[in-house]
Amino acid sequence: MQVREAGAEERAGILALHRVAFAAAEGEEAGEIIAALVDSLLDDPTAQPLLSLVAETENALVGHILFTPVTVDGVAGGYILAPLAVSPTAQRGGIGKALIHAGLERLRQQAVPFVMVLGDPAYYSRSGFATSHAIRPPHDIPYPEAWMALALVEGALNEFSGTLQCADALNAREHW
Ligand SMILES: CC(C)(COP(=O)(O)OP(=O)(O)OC[C@H]1O[C@@H](n2cnc3c(N)ncnc32)[C@H](O)[C@@H]1OP(=O)(O)O)[C@@H](O)C(=O)NCCC(=O)NCCS
Repeated sequence: MQVREAGAEERAGILALHRVAFAAAEGEEAGEIIAALVDSLLDDPTAQPLLSLVAETENALVGHILFTPVTVDGVAGGYILAPLAVSPTAQRGGIGKALIHAGLERLRQQAVPFVMVLGDPAYYSRSGFATSHAIRPPHDIPYPEAWMALALVEGALNEFSGTLQCADALNAREHW
């Protein structure tokens, strides 16, 4: 399995992957919503510069992860991880974790101070995400424990507090 930056020509395969992974996990509507979100983010000028990574095995696309920039009370620097999908037939083999770690490593090399995620605490805490931060989500969320951060630069989370603003496509209420 190899993790690498996604090419522009891979968009259809990436969208199909999110559609099937989220449909299997949360139902068909979720699959459509997330595929549309990825499609919008890839074109969204407010989501640049984004980091889009794929995992592939033997020429098959088995995973995709997207990181897009955010601001906190207008201060830029951080990123948000959203979304992540692994092909249902390839899950529980470490591909999700490998995509997260490859993305975090690239962002760390770019001196990105922190990354946020809204997701399952049981899953993302394995990669170091935690609720110990002072960054508010752009909308009220029903499960505050799902709103997590990871510092890539030591102490970075002490320097950011306030309300997060993300790319326009991701800011829509339905994604929170
Ligand atoms: C969540 C997802 C990306 C994980 O991908 P993956 O390649 O299976 O993940 P990994 O192999 O790195 O990790 C698997 C481990 O995480 C656990 N895990 C997987 N999904 C989990 C979840 N939603 N919550 C808690 N634990 C989870 C599994 O139990 C497994 O642990 P185990 O093998 O020790 O039992 C994948 O299941 C997926 O695409 N789901 C549908 C889309 C989705 O929900 N994306 C995340 C949105 S925040």
